Amino acid sequence: MTSLFSLLLSLALLSLSFLTTAVSASEFTFQEATIESIHLAFAQNRLTSRQLVDFYLDRIQTLNPSLRCVLEVNPDALAQADEADRLRAEARGGKGTLGNLHGIPVLLKDSIGTDDKMNTSAGSYALLGARVPRDAFVVERLRSAGAVILGKASMSEWYSIRSWEMPRGWCARGGQGVNPYVKSENPCGSSTGSAIAVAANMVTVSLGTETDSSIICPADHNSVVGFKPTVGLTSRAGVMLVSPRQDSIGPISRTVSDAVYVLDAIVGFDPRDEATGEAAKFIPMGGYKQFLREDGLKGKRLGIVRNPFSNSRGSTAASIFDQHLGTFRNYGATLVDNLEIENIDIILNPSKNGEMGVLRAHFKHHINEYLGELSNSPVKSLADVIAFNSNNPDLEKMEEYNQDGLIAAQMANILDEEVVKAEHMMKKLSEEGFEKLMKENELDAMVTLGLRAATVLAFEGYPALTVPAGYDDNGMPFGVCFGGLKGSEAKLIEIAYSFEQATRMRKPPLSFSSEFHYQYYYEQSYGTM
Ligand SMILES: *[C@@H]1O[C@H](CO)[C@@H](O)[C@H](O)[C@H]1NC(C)=O
Repeated sequence: MTSLFSLLLSLALLSLSFLTTAVSASEFTFQEATIESIHLAFAQNRLTSRQLVDFYLDRIQTLNPSLRCVLEVNPDALAQADEADRLRAEARGGKGTLGNLHGIPVLLKDSIGTDDKMNTSAGSYALLGARVPRDAFVVERLRSAGAVILGKASMSEWYSIRSWEMPRGWCARGGQGVNPYVKSENPCGSSTGSAIAVAANMVTVSLGTETDSSIICPADHNSVVGFKPTVGLTSRAGVMLVSPRQDSIGPISRTVSDAVYVLDAIVGFDPRDEATGEAAKFIPMGGYKQFLREDGLKGKRLGIVRNPFSNSRGSTAASIFDQHLGTFRNYGATLVDNLEIENIDIILNPSKNGEMGVLRAHFKHHINEYLGELSNSPVKSLADVIAFNSNNPDLEKMEEYNQDGLIAAQMANILDEEVVKAEHMMKKLSEEGFEKLMKENELDAMVTLGLRAATVLAFEGYPALTVPAGYDDNGMPFGVCFGGLKGSEAKLIEIAYSFEQATRMRKPPLSFSSEFHYQYYYEQSYGTM
């Protein structure tokens, strides 16, 4: 009798535990899926990479006509997913180990070279049909980590250098990218499509590039995480460059943890990019995942710079930012408040900081190098691009926006005295501004509201990480931006992850997430603040 009872009991317990695993396994949702939730679903045989890619391709087909964030999908994406599924089945049989991004779909900014069936065009028609000599280093790394390359994301054409008049997120091939939260607001750029697609659950993660604000700004405006690593931590080889002094390749994702998975996959020494030799010493043994610590804010010294950032996004954003400062304190951080960056008005003023002249000169030099390496390309130099635009005014929509920026770049020269002088000034502004602020106050990170501090961090290649921090009265997202000294990624990750776990501010855009009900959205956004 007792043994029958205990048998029944253990049976009941067994089926109970079976039930709970079944429940947690069936909890996989495509919306807001993270790399960890996908890996778990793979491991539980609840999901295949093909199903995931199918879901995203379907989303892209449905949403891209209104959001305009994907220029091309990879004709080989499903085949890559099948291969990932096959390798996973094999690995289960004990053969081989899988990479950290195994079967994970990744979208690439259209300036990141891929040696496959896709075009790499910086949003322009001038490069259609051209072949790159090889995959960009970061793409090579993604592939070897097992990622599925899902497609190419739209961007501000030629990194916005084409024209002053051109709004951010516009390119001839894709048209104007649309902010999924507030359609009338600009989605920002230049890594526009990379941010929109992640925000609207059209891919798991993406890569963007930043010269000045190009990851941080679209991530901020589309309520996603954007991570610009220290210049040189990720190789720029095979990517169209604006300036080797400032350009960095980094992840855009819905969570800090996903950004770190991608970062781990793409960092490292590359003989084709000199700067990676210097920066490789920053990469910690065992990678960056170990810094995803919920208690990461504990003991950190954070410098809060309010002026001129805190009022840039309206009073609701400013008051939510103040609440976040309380969270930082509650989680054990020490705040050094109301700090000022020396010469901040000059640093943020495009007509005084000298940056545009430097970037145009560098762009001309490096785009000519890049174009020179292409085969089968309609254009082999910046001069050819300008001529292509003039000769194809309909394709390139020259009636809408001119190409004054490209023409100005064509006239610039990296050896011009003006350019060299401006480089020195930018270095000095950074050393006497941000770097001095960090060192004198012994800070682990600078914390600012919104995206504008990205410029402060751009001139000398410091890292920046933005995390969704809320929505203003119109539903427009904003982020909190963490900046640090070169190589301080580990600290930034600890701080950003801890902040994200404590606040969980990101919500998917309402009109594009059928699985989320308005009530849920409302309560999560406003009810618990
Ligand atoms: C790349 O551009 C060419 C036009 O030259 C086009 O035929 C092709 O479909 C494009 N590739 C993809 C994957 O869309």
